[in-house]
Amino acid sequence: MIRVLGIETSCDETAASVVTLDGGGAPKILSDIVLSQIEEHAAFGGVVPEIAARAHVEALDGIIEAALADSGVDLADIDAIAATAGPGLVGGLIVGLMTAKAIAAAANKPLIAINHLEGHALTARLTDGLDFPYLLLLVSGGHTQIVAVRGVGDYQRWATTIDDALGEAFDKTAKMLGLPYPGGPNVEKVAATGDATRFAFPRPMKGSAQPDFSFSGLKTAVRQAATAIAPLSDQDVADICASFQAAVADALDDRVSRALNRFRQEFPGEAKPALVVAGGVAANRTIKATLEALCEKAGFAFVAPPLKLCTDNAAMIAWAGIERLRAGIAGENTADFVPRSRWPLDSISAPMVGSGRRGAKA
Ligand code: KG4
Ligand code: ZN
Repeated sequence: MIRVLGIETSCDETAASVVTLDGGGAPKILSDIVLSQIEEHAAFGGVVPEIAARAHVEALDGIIEAALADSGVDLADIDAIAATAGPGLVGGLIVGLMTAKAIAAAANKPLIAINHLEGHALTARLTDGLDFPYLLLLVSGGHTQIVAVRGVGDYQRWATTIDDALGEAFDKTAKMLGLPYPGGPNVEKVAATGDATRFAFPRPMKGSAQPDFSFSGLKTAVRQAATAIAPLSDQDVADICASFQAAVADALDDRVSRALNRFRQEFPGEAKPALVVAGGVAANRTIKATLEALCEKAGFAFVAPPLKLCTDNAAMIAWAGIERLRAGIAGENTADFVPRSRWPLDSISAPMVGSGRRGAKA
């Protein structure tokens, strides 16, 4: 039996969780506590790094205590502490990693520094018992990436965004149209009553041989359309949201279908490979339906873990710790580990863009 305490503080969720792996190889989430800071940031229309770091300091002790209490596992019986050490907002990373180091030192436990993206990448093995290799589409407020997941610690980033993350594009569109933060769910809600054919927004990167994503041109097109017809009626806003969402779904369809083709070529032995989605944007029904249809056509299994485990949480961090322990590659993470605001999953993929308000994107 392996028992790991996970800690996540890389953005605007303070989270702690205890996950176990029994002798038969079955994982179990014993506790999974996530405190969202949405209310603290809502007035500013996005995550404010200093507010996030302070909120983590205030909440983290209590969240860890609650996660241990909920799990019924004594700290003395925990095998290791796994904490997100990057990429993300450095203030939050410092709070989480320093707390983890302190607990590890006091309780004489090993510390495992986890790459947040590895947490997302391995979640489908915790929830669905997926075997390697598989393809991951991560679409959140901070990241938009396609990653070939080949093994524990063995990832290849095939695509990333060259400007905004997709969730960020939803959030900025919402802000422009006067919809509340966080924008994604509100854009989706309003889009349901809109006409998706009214505005012919660009499909960024569609048809490009380069596999990457781009959303800033689409954002500009939305702003220009909104300015041209201002003041906006409720119906105008709904039509813009629906047209924006259709453009995004279409662009994703094109980008992801390229990656599915590449996966087929690189892993010809996989009869029914899987595409896994993660990140808050995976909640969007139009996007989900688009990806599902694409997978169906391409002969891929479509795997969408429960939303609570798709969005930021500490169970995925604890699980990544378990995977590393099991694979015997937890040892390189010592108490000397320094938080990394930038930390690409694979060493060959260079960072593409600067830091947003949710931290570095690659
Ligand atoms: O993974 P997540 O919870 O957190 C981080 O990015 O750290 O993702 C949040 C992002 C936000 O940008 C939010 O607007 C977007 O996911 N989002 C959505 C939907 N629900 C959340 N975007 C589109 N449609 C949704 N239904
Ligand atoms: Zn995340």
